[in-house]
Amino acid sequence: MQLTDAIHSRISARGFLDKPVAEATVRQVIDLARHAPSGSNMQPWQVHAVSGKLLERVIKESLAFAEEHPIGSREKEFQTPTENFIQPYKSRRYAIGMGLYDALGIDRKDKVRRNEQLLQNFYFFGAPVGLFFSIPRCLMPGQLGDLGIFMGNVMLAAREFDLHTCAQGFWQDVQPVLHDVLDISDDYFIFNGMALGHIDPDHAANSLVSGREDVDAFCQFAGFEQ
Ligand SMILES: Cc1cc2nc3c(=O)[nH]c(=O)nc-3n(C[C@H](O)[C@H](O)[C@H](O)COP(=O)(O)O)c2cc1C
Repeated sequence: MQLTDAIHSRISARGFLDKPVAEATVRQVIDLARHAPSGSNMQPWQVHAVSGKLLERVIKESLAFAEEHPIGSREKEFQTPTENFIQPYKSRRYAIGMGLYDALGIDRKDKVRRNEQLLQNFYFFGAPVGLFFSIPRCLMPGQLGDLGIFMGNVMLAAREFDLHTCAQGFWQDVQPVLHDVLDISDDYFIFNGMALGHIDPDHAANSLVSGREDVDAFCQFAGFEQ
């Protein structure tokens, strides 16, 4: 697959087919992604690729945890305070959220169905594989960008194998469960989860089109002679 095609065909998939992905394929995705650059080549990423019964356990225990600690109620270590979401970021966040509800036919005022959609994150939107990305705490926040670049590579590499992804900051809300079930040391910060699998092309959530600003809206060119 050409890079251009990988970039243009990648979306955050929120509906997957009930079709397994072999460990060997996930390994190939990660094997491609590991060529990501990082500061001083420190490669500060750790990945837990989870499927099958263990994934079911992650989901079950996370749901139980969220009963006691509702999503959004826990103070997160590295969360942008809501008041920092100034314009134009505030409008963009709102637009993508509402766009998703519209795609799913959820009334914007229907808190119950909105919450049900949020909870789909627990199920990785039906994907058979959950990836968890963590970083040694001692390298925070300096190397967090490295982890982001690596995750971007994973998302694009997945396209080479006809797979789709959805990055999930959501999992920060249930970090204690992940440390426990996946036996991740407290010395690591679990930054994100990611659903990985075969996209369901007919799922309404996947009809959501997320726009992007034109280059001139955020890039200043200077000093070029041509
Ligand atoms: C770091 C990161 C965390 C994200 N967390 C979530 C999440 O928890 N749940 C979700 O449904 N989408 C999540 N997303 C997906 C974004 O909403 C999505 O990338 C954005 O709206 C652009 O849409 P696109 O990926 O389809 O181009 C996340 C994306 C990134 C990069």
